[in-house]
Amino acid sequence: MEHASAAAPDELVRQHVSPGASLIAVLHAIQDEAGFVPPEAVAPLARAFNLSRAEVHGVITYYHHFRTQPPARVAVALCRAEACRSMGTEALARHIEARTACRFDAGHEASNAAAGEVELESVYCLGQCALSPSMTINGKLHVKVTPSKFDALLEAALAEAPAVAASAEGA
Ligand code: FES
Repeated sequence: MEHASAAAPDELVRQHVSPGASLIAVLHAIQDEAGFVPPEAVAPLARAFNLSRAEVHGVITYYHHFRTQPPARVAVALCRAEACRSMGTEALARHIEARTACRFDAGHEASNAAAGEVELESVYCLGQCALSPSMTINGKLHVKVTPSKFDALLEAALAEAPAVAASAEGA
């Protein structure tokens, strides 16, 4: 993903629409580049695919994968499926929420105290059941995560992640 260098929405659409490309494929390409599908891209997408804005918006909102706001600096995806739950994931989730002042699966809602900094998502099995609890932080897998290990991973991720303002400027 190249969030900081992502083009303006009109330009993003021009870059990725090509003969034969599906709307879904173009949405993936835009999100891969910008980190999200800017709402301003809906109108040019509608023109490019000869659809209404509502139809394009409907596709974007139908698929959970597509997001319409920039991602947080640090995106945590915690496995909350059975094997991880049996190894203390729920206690870890409570620790993470207290540590970050965020709620799981709240997205970028205004009530999320650290919106823009940290985003917490529940996922269900990362294929690491024997090494639970497991999570990803900005897409990188971590296993046998304890509260103290999470704290260290979070600090490292915040130190590595670009500032939100820099990402937003380029979006
Ligand atoms: S249940 Fe958590 S990785 Fe499989």
